[in-house]
Amino acid sequence: KDDRISRISSSIRVIPDFPKPGILFHDITTLLLDPTAFQDTIDLFVERYKDKNINVVAGVEARGFIFGPPIALAIGAKFVPLRKPKKLPGEVISEEYTLEYGTDIMEMHVGAVQRGDRAVVVDDLIATGGTLNAAIRLLERVGVDVVECACVIELLELKGRDKLGDKSLFVLVSST
Ligand code: PRP
Ligand code: MG
Repeated sequence: KDDRISRISSSIRVIPDFPKPGILFHDITTLLLDPTAFQDTIDLFVERYKDKNINVVAGVEARGFIFGPPIALAIGAKFVPLRKPKKLPGEVISEEYTLEYGTDIMEMHVGAVQRGDRAVVVDDLIATGGTLNAAIRLLERVGVDVVECACVIELLELKGRDKLGDKSLFVLVSST
């Protein structure tokens, strides 16, 4: 297997019982401290998307803002932030989604994307899949073709992939 993947995988710190007992937190800040692992992460996504006519990289606040922009710049796509509510100053469209307890809202600026745009949605991690599912719905509502979702880490036990229906999901590291 690609030894870039091994380096990325071992650079991710796993912290038990954060933020709550029973949760095994996958911390990408330690990946960011290793410039080789961080560069390899970006390169692997860029290699996958550079020749696929992607013109939008949509990043999910907050940790999708770390990985999305360097990918967007490298493939010559626009970067579109998908934000927590009441952060964007212009007119927005919103999508509600379910969390473990209660709901949250994701917002995007009207006019950031156009009907027919081709997007990749980037985040650090997929757990239950609720966040990426909301991002897909938000973009598809305005006629964007979501080509794929891309994450550094997939938590296999939570089966978040199932929540994406037949939407393609690309991950670098799968964790049990
Ligand atoms: C984490 C992670 C993903 C999301 C995955 O973000 O960065 O965005 O949870 O969970 P899901 O697949 O169950 O929806 P979080 O909401 O904790 O916030 P942050 O990125 O702002 O730190
Ligand atoms: Mg997040």
